[in-house]
Amino acid sequence: MPTPWTPDSWRSKPIIQVPEYPDPIVLADTEAKLATFPPLVFAGEARDLKKRLAAVAAGDAFLLQGGDCAESFAEHRADNIRDFLRVFLQMAVVLTYAASMPIVKVGRIAGQFAKPRSADIEKKGDVTLPSYRGDIINGPEFTPEARTPDPQRQIEAYRQSAATLNLLRAFTSGGYADLERVHQWTLGFLADSPSGQRFSELADRISETIGFMRACGITSESTPALRTTTVYTSHEALLLGFEQAFTRLDSTSGEWYGTSGHMLWIGDRTRQPDHAHVEYCRGIRNPIGIKCGPSLEPDTLIKLLDFLNPKEEPGRITLICRYGSDKVEKALPKLIRGVQKAGRNVVWSCDPMHGNTITSASNFKTRPFDRILSEVDQFFAIHRAEGTHAGGVHFEMTGQNVTECTGGAGAISDADLSDRYNTHCDPRLNADQSLELAFRMAESIKAERLAHAPDLASRPAAE
Ligand code: TRP
Ligand code: MN
Repeated sequence: MPTPWTPDSWRSKPIIQVPEYPDPIVLADTEAKLATFPPLVFAGEARDLKKRLAAVAAGDAFLLQGGDCAESFAEHRADNIRDFLRVFLQMAVVLTYAASMPIVKVGRIAGQFAKPRSADIEKKGDVTLPSYRGDIINGPEFTPEARTPDPQRQIEAYRQSAATLNLLRAFTSGGYADLERVHQWTLGFLADSPSGQRFSELADRISETIGFMRACGITSESTPALRTTTVYTSHEALLLGFEQAFTRLDSTSGEWYGTSGHMLWIGDRTRQPDHAHVEYCRGIRNPIGIKCGPSLEPDTLIKLLDFLNPKEEPGRITLICRYGSDKVEKALPKLIRGVQKAGRNVVWSCDPMHGNTITSASNFKTRPFDRILSEVDQFFAIHRAEGTHAGGVHFEMTGQNVTECTGGAGAISDADLSDRYNTHCDPRLNADQSLELAFRMAESIKAERLAHAPDLASRPAAE
């Protein structure tokens, strides 16, 4: 039997990936202050997301999760948030159309600030400094000042998350996401690219349908489902002192929720069943993601599921598989069979980013678009073969026209990487590559749908 859970019970467990703050008292004061701040999200919203993920697990919806590898304080601007949202909504529309299914939209946003690192220290010449662990902890510049963990950054991360979330809520409920405006999302540099063109054609078809519905009396003024959407937030639950400060008792249900984001995930490096990160996530009722990499054995996963979801609550667990295009074929079927045999209910999601990172000849950390595509394609094919639902995808992406991943229709080459390589952490898909990927997935999803071919009336509807 596990010991009783409290918001701070993780503190008595082994833990890795912890920054060394110079002054524990300042850290504790900061955490106490954060604990008095209003929650970023509401428990009822996290419950709604769990319900929608339960529909994904049942094969009746699809999960689209994406955003920055790490958000950055320096790039916190309204137009960056808008540009991300624009391409994210475009992807969601492409998928909604192809799947004839609701798309559950979850951003890696409004709180994705802390990064696990493979080494605690970084060496340049004779100088050794702590590694950069994300803007919520320290700064990326290679100076002792920037690299010293500073609790004040947690306050700034909260402020930025609140402002980002506020703008997202305004855009998604205030008219920007209105399907009657679908053509306006094409404007900008995407308009001239092949996937931008393709989107424009799809937008024509949607506009035509909407015109027909308007003539029938269904308009975006009278039907909020056409005018608004919901983008949920998510991040890795890595900096547990911060997470603990936002762990609040929900008065409606009497249960604990993490209120720093709707969905939290456990990284591939911190998923040891008897360690602190798993202990923390066990007690909050939010939907939880588990990153599954090549080293995760089915037995360990089942142990984790027993621990994190003992009551088999649908929608509680999303398995975010990140193998690499050369490993997925060997590793994923084993994991699927283990989960099926144990009769566990999960969302299967594909992260085709983290297993496909290489160093380019020009010495940039990059990800070849072909490998990303290949992992997604294999993910769908494997689920088709196993008879399970390929439920979702998890991307590192941006709305900006960056050059961080090679390939795609824009044919970004090794030599192009230095043009607009802006990431503070891992290489992200740019807007064009993201949209191209959405069209590619649309084909797989459509094939899956046609194979099942339920009649129209039995299909679920979005809200
Ligand atoms: N409300 C529906 C949904 O969220 C339809 C919708 C409205 C939509 N605006 C959207 C879908 C923008 C995708 C993108 O799915
Ligand atoms: Mn990353």
